Amino acid sequence: MNRADTGAQAPLLEVRDSPLHGLGVFAVRRIPRGTRVIEYLGERVSHTEADRRYDHDGAGDNHTFLFILDSHTVIDAGVDGNEARFVNHSCEPNCESVIESQRVYIDAIRTIEPGEELTYDYQLQREADDPPDIDAVFACRCGLERCRGSMLWPPPRAPRPQGRRGRRR
Ligand SMILES: C[S@@+](CC[C@H](N)C(=O)[O-])C[C@H]1O[C@@H](n2cnc3c(N)ncnc32)[C@H](O)[C@@H]1O
Ligand SMILES: [Zn+2]
Repeated sequence: MNRADTGAQAPLLEVRDSPLHGLGVFAVRRIPRGTRVIEYLGERVSHTEADRRYDHDGAGDNHTFLFILDSHTVIDAGVDGNEARFVNHSCEPNCESVIESQRVYIDAIRTIEPGEELTYDYQLQREADDPPDIDAVFACRCGLERCRGSMLWPPPRAPRPQGRRGRRR
């Protein structure tokens, strides 16, 4: 595993406006496949505290800087976070999130050229009490051929075929 350069070296990444959403993270230099690009930093809080911080935003607002580490802990990159909090979601990403020893990293899963936006698949988990419009709330705007239309996982269920279903003669 390569490591992203730090210190006196030229920066590997920059944060700027993204066509996907708000700010995004872009490669400044070529990033070889397998590079450990950045750690996802932030304050570690309980799920209860994360809910308290972000639920008041309203059901139609999906924007948070939260990363679920496990059933006990959420990383809130809105507090003490770094550039990793601006990495957007894509359904055909060039990075993946990796949890190792209770730390979260973003690793390149293919070679990334300068100027490319870094992305990973958020795979946000569905919950039993999700409202019916949950996929609209978490709609993905990656626009790629294999975009599943949602940042949630598993993908939205295809609508049941219409037409003669249920008809009796
Ligand atoms: C951790 S932030 C990423 C940085 C964000 N662009 C910003 O400027 O703060 C995650 C939020 O960005 C938005 N986002 C990220 N990827 C997206 C995508 N592919 N389509 C639509 N919204 C996206 C969603 O609102 C998501 O909750
Ligand atoms: Zn998509």
